Amino acid sequence: MTLIVTRALCGNFFDISGIAAHAADIEGKARYIENGMMLLNGGMIVWLGHREEGERILADNDCTIPLDDYSDKLIIPGFIDTHIHYPQTEMIAAFGEQLLEWLDNYTFPTEAQYHDIEYAQKMSKFFIQQLLNNGTTTALVFGTVHPQSVDALFTVAAALNMRLIAGKVMMDKHAPAALLETPEQSDRETRALIARWHNHQRLSYALTPRFVPTSSPELLEKVRLIKQDYPDIYLQTHLSENREEISWVKSLYPQHERYLDVYHHHQLTGSRCVFAHCLHLEPEEWDCLSDTDSSIAFCPTSNLFLGSGLFDINATWQKKIRLGMGTDVGAGTTFNMLQTLAEAYKVGQLQHYRLSAFEAFYHATLGGAHALHLDDKIGNFDIGKEADLVVLDPGASALQQLRTANSKTLAEKLFVLMTLGDDRNIYRTLVDGKVVYQRDN
Ligand code: GUN
Ligand code: ZN
Repeated sequence: MTLIVTRALCGNFFDISGIAAHAADIEGKARYIENGMMLLNGGMIVWLGHREEGERILADNDCTIPLDDYSDKLIIPGFIDTHIHYPQTEMIAAFGEQLLEWLDNYTFPTEAQYHDIEYAQKMSKFFIQQLLNNGTTTALVFGTVHPQSVDALFTVAAALNMRLIAGKVMMDKHAPAALLETPEQSDRETRALIARWHNHQRLSYALTPRFVPTSSPELLEKVRLIKQDYPDIYLQTHLSENREEISWVKSLYPQHERYLDVYHHHQLTGSRCVFAHCLHLEPEEWDCLSDTDSSIAFCPTSNLFLGSGLFDINATWQKKIRLGMGTDVGAGTTFNMLQTLAEAYKVGQLQHYRLSAFEAFYHATLGGAHALHLDDKIGNFDIGKEADLVVLDPGASALQQLRTANSKTLAEKLFVLMTLGDDRNIYRTLVDGKVVYQRDN
């Protein structure tokens, strides 16, 4: 076998081999290679198997590159965060409020600072570094209403050749004047950003109407027209997060029976449309998400922190809806996907849903890629996929070492890792085949 190899990693590899139709399918798709080797050619995975065989392939190809030896580590696909706000990084962990007051008191004043391009550049670097420090290699990201916020973010992601999707917030009512725009301005600035960034390197653009209360029908009509012009564009927004928010939507749009009907009426549902939260959906809304092939971002730390409600994971399987995990920083309380999965498990517990470790890691990797229609490119270690991965140290503390040594199965070790884990467990992060984060020791 002739191969060009630019990097060879050794360690224990774990991923999920394919898209699951039911939670019960996932365990059968779990792949684990102990003492394995992965070969990369630049940013692409070209081979994965047992280490001895990999060494033979390297010898046959006269390849003498040094091996990246992670023998005691667990190498998994990079985490995928399907819902996060970069201009809320500096206000994470804001005390005391539920959604609507939290937006007014903390979020809008913070986001107003992003009119300043230098500030946006500084925070973009900090934000991307936080993603990488936590093993997240792809995210679907909200900017602010200012187009320069998104220029700054995409510039940092492009320098790393990261796979990132983002968009500027669109909003024309119910926020401070400094954060409002007209539908015409929103249309013009959004189209200019799409021309600059959509499908540039590994970047994609997401239309980002914030949520229904900050959107006039005229604004939603502009969003519809842009979406029509760009069939492969993404759309990200919020849906049915908080009971007061839902009542407000019903009073603002009395002609529509349900929250989702407002988006659907403007043709803002469908493939590549990602709805965050979806906590209090009516049966017709579940059906609409399913019928339109829309995706959901489940954000457990945010839902608990803002006291918003409990997401029904089981319903997404029943209704065959694409699901990814979101941190929703800054309403979410961590960038870390292990901590996010731990909270997802507890949300399940409160509803008698047993979220297995295999299912949890699926949602955070291949399932998230499926929710973003990127499962042909990222999410597992299939040959030909992009080399975005994270090297986890399952024993980053004395307690983790003790508990892991006391675990028998892979499922148990993964469950301990997600329940006790945090950023200490992230040993290396690779994006596009290159190391972009390494832990100090
Ligand atoms: N709904 C509208 N805007 C936001 C936001 O910034 N965060 C969350 N969690 N919900 C929202
Ligand atoms: Zn959000």
